[in-house]
Amino acid sequence: MSYPLVALPVAATPYADKVDGLFWAVTGVCAFVTLGIAFAITYFCFRYRSGAAADRTLPDLAAGKSRSRRIEATWIAVPFAFFLIFFAWGAQLYYVYDDPPGNALQVFVTAKQWMWKVEHSDGRREINELHVPVGEPVRLVMTSQDVIHDFYVPAFREKRDVLPGRYTVLWFKPTLTGVYPLRCDEFCGTGHSMMTGRVYVMSRDAYSRWLASGSEEPSLARLGFARFRELGCSGCHGPGSSIHAPSLAGLYGQMVPLADGSFVRFDDAYIRDSILQPARQIAAGYSNDMPPFAGRISEQDLLELTAYLRSLANTPPDVPQGNHLQ
Ligand code: CUA
Repeated sequence: MSYPLVALPVAATPYADKVDGLFWAVTGVCAFVTLGIAFAITYFCFRYRSGAAADRTLPDLAAGKSRSRRIEATWIAVPFAFFLIFFAWGAQLYYVYDDPPGNALQVFVTAKQWMWKVEHSDGRREINELHVPVGEPVRLVMTSQDVIHDFYVPAFREKRDVLPGRYTVLWFKPTLTGVYPLRCDEFCGTGHSMMTGRVYVMSRDAYSRWLASGSEEPSLARLGFARFRELGCSGCHGPGSSIHAPSLAGLYGQMVPLADGSFVRFDDAYIRDSILQPARQIAAGYSNDMPPFAGRISEQDLLELTAYLRSLANTPPDVPQGNHLQ
């Protein structure tokens, strides 16, 4: 859907069309109200101008002559109804935006002053560029190495803050191939305005060729498996370990019970928190013997470990881990 009269950026996702729909509805109602007010001002200026023979007597309120109550009720109720409609409409779009499909292609994004670093699950890396296939949902897991940035693609009508010390997620499903500007939308220092990039939405074939043309970097999960052993994680969490620590296979995406009786989803954020501050959320049935890794491990290590644990999502707990990786 396009709007030839107004120069909005091209809408490259179905979601962008929906956001535009809401935008035009709000704009249309505001324009209607603005025109109505302008008309009323003009009309009253003319009608009650100095010397005009208009009736200026006030209604006799004491005698119950006021007829203004119905008008007052109307001008309260009608705008209120419009506010509620726009609220529900916006909230519905927000929840769609907040709920990535489970089969989405996962890409890691690390922001820093002043560039975007992108890592695909197969290990392919990019700077200030993001290549994605058309018609497939893509889920970005984002973090910042320094200050707050904001990942913004106008053609997708989506933006989300990228924060140091935690992951945020943004997802989209582009349906139009093309090259779209990527911007940082949070003032992040003197180089903020240069913190731009491009999103390439490619046909399936072009995307496969692009993927195949990559360097022979090992996948993130494979790097994560090496990290898992280097950092000593496998000593306790590996199969056959004599230390009482939970196996991490088959957990990704599941709800896991905690010692305090609550449940938490075993996702990127939980993995990250558990590595950095293991004592905060302890798995039910285990004591916490793990040292905190906060300050001892890089964002890159965290991404790799997360990719490795994600790759174990469908692995039973007792098989030797790492064998499933190419
Ligand atoms: Cu990064 Cu502005």
